[in-house]
Amino acid sequence: MSQATWNSVDDYFNGLFSLDDSVMQQVQENCRVAGLPAISVSPCQGMFLQILAQSCRAGRILEIGTLGGYSGIWLARALADNGKLVTIEYEAKHAEVARRNFDLAGVGSGVTIINADAKPALTSLIEKSVDPFDLVFIDADKPGYVDYLALSLRLSHQGTVIVADNVVRKGEVANLETDEERVVGVRNFLKALAAEKSLRTTALQTVGVKGYDGFSISVVL
Ligand SMILES: C[S@@+](CC[C@H](N)C(=O)[O-])C[C@H]1O[C@@H](n2cnc3c(N)ncnc32)[C@H](O)[C@@H]1O
Repeated sequence: MSQATWNSVDDYFNGLFSLDDSVMQQVQENCRVAGLPAISVSPCQGMFLQILAQSCRAGRILEIGTLGGYSGIWLARALADNGKLVTIEYEAKHAEVARRNFDLAGVGSGVTIINADAKPALTSLIEKSVDPFDLVFIDADKPGYVDYLALSLRLSHQGTVIVADNVVRKGEVANLETDEERVVGVRNFLKALAAEKSLRTTALQTVGVKGYDGFSISVVL
């Protein structure tokens, strides 16, 4: 199997399920013009996140790693009226582009972007005793994932779904010889998930326009 095959299957699914609407195309174009890296989730993956959020009837969603708001829009579209997406991004330029994109997509009123480093931002949410989140999407720097998990658990309740992207890294996650910091970060995160008695966890390998990678999916027991 090749990248070309994965691309053509993703294209087929995008067309079949109408996943790449004009707003989402404009959002990606805005990210491209602003010079943001092309590292968002794909349309199929965005809809996967949206369906997860709808399945757990998420009214409050936490995202760590906003970029230009692409995955956040998919998630925000799952929210009922008065639902809330809180999304954390430390690059000011990314946060600015995301704000414009959330407004363009018509979900801006339900979205709070915290333009800060994720660890202090999460700690601050804990200190403020905000209501717990129903779904958490972790998609920022990989060495931070272990801390993001520990902090997210303090912002969760029984039934909260915690999803993390990029946990396979072209299969490198199973290469015990590597000392690449992102792979090590992901492996430490997966070990923490496995050791966490309050979680039920699986991980799924994915292929598509984003290459070969995968998600972990956990639920708080
Ligand atoms: C993979 S991108 C997020 C993609 C986005 N979730 C999407 O699919 O549209 C990761 C983002 O996390 C941000 N980031 C990285 N480290 C961070 C940190 N320590 N705190 C907050 N944001 C961080 C990066 O600036 C980048 O915009």
